[in-house]
Amino acid sequence: MKKIGILGGGQLGRMLLQAAVNYPVETFVMENDPEAPAAHLCHHFIKGDITRHEDVYAFGKNLDALTIEIEHVNTDALEKLEMEGVKIYPNVRTLKLIKNKIYQKEFYREHQIPTSDFVVTENREALRLYNDFFPAVHKLANGGYDGRGVQIINSENEIEKCFDAPAVLEKKIDIRQEISVIIAVGNAGETVIYPPVDMVFDQNLNLLSYQISPAELPEKVFWKVEAIALSVIKKLQSPGIFAIEMFSDAEENVYVNEIAPRVHNSGHHTIEGNYSSQFDMLWRVMLDYPLGNTQTILPSALVNLIGEEGHKGVAVYDGLHQVLSMENTFVHLYGKKETRPGRKMGHVTILSSEKQDLLYKANKIRRTLRVLNV
Ligand SMILES: Nc1ncnc2c1ncn2[C@@H]1O[C@H](COP(=O)(O)OP(=O)(O)OP(=O)(O)O)[C@@H](O)[C@H]1O
Ligand SMILES: [Mg+2]
Repeated sequence: MKKIGILGGGQLGRMLLQAAVNYPVETFVMENDPEAPAAHLCHHFIKGDITRHEDVYAFGKNLDALTIEIEHVNTDALEKLEMEGVKIYPNVRTLKLIKNKIYQKEFYREHQIPTSDFVVTENREALRLYNDFFPAVHKLANGGYDGRGVQIINSENEIEKCFDAPAVLEKKIDIRQEISVIIAVGNAGETVIYPPVDMVFDQNLNLLSYQISPAELPEKVFWKVEAIALSVIKKLQSPGIFAIEMFSDAEENVYVNEIAPRVHNSGHHTIEGNYSSQFDMLWRVMLDYPLGNTQTILPSALVNLIGEEGHKGVAVYDGLHQVLSMENTFVHLYGKKETRPGRKMGHVTILSSEKQDLLYKANKIRRTLRVLNV
């Protein structure tokens, strides 16, 4: 039986492990917190720091393959492991490229992948050179996730809000839709693509409010989205699973925002909504099985359950009974003991062939199911 490890023990690892039970695989998780969402679902939990060379190397050296659930891992250790024959999904070259937003944007430019225009800034002072670049978005090169490394800067008066560290300053796009596409790449380079997802964001939290799949897109945008997503993934030349986040604007231009080289929030609906989920798919890739069927069984809406403002401490789920009584509604709680404002605590997927039904239920769930503290 193959031995496969996951670096990081959050909800992505948890859902990946839920899919692993269907396959002949021995699973390993490394994570600092022994109570993390994925800690109790793997065969072997190893406490360790995913950013430390020794820990990552020791974890990986007896495994057949490794994957990640967050990009901020020690890539030098992974590089050594890869050279010694451990398969890394995604491969380390791709991981290094994506982990750093400066490299990522330069990659798009080099390969003529449409992306918002940008400049690289070394520190906050350097932004003074680009007074005519606003409105713009400042993005930390390293370490940002869930919108925490992203600052919208409307004018030069807001430079104080910028990061005082290496970052990219990119033109703010007048976004009409935020679209995500998930693509799986097998070991022989074969690809399958999931139908695009429409992501609707909460402007305040900079977090997803809900998403609809398949996305309703103007025909031209649809073709661009698929073609661009496939071409960028082909250029990466790595097996694994990838989420390509894109924007479209009123002129129906499509821009690549960023790539996640792993399972992604915008693919959680595939658990119930598509024949092969993104999690099932990644096991197929890593175990060298044929790729699965990405088709939609029924359209879906997905609502993230986010820790409520003003609530910090042991989590309780207010309204859970009511939501569980709703038809074709699937609740996923990530098993995080503590809630805090803005923390991702779970998600709910709704299936329906009627768009109105999806929107009605998504809004109802957002109002009904709340994560509070005891
Ligand atoms: N160039 C841009 N123009 C307009 N809005 C943008 C731009 N870049 C980012 N945003 C907004 O900020 C959000 C977060 O940006 P981005 O996806 O790059 O950051 P992130 O921290 O990696 O987020 P996540 O981990 O949630 O994907 C985007 O989903 C989008 O709403
Ligand atoms: Mg993003």
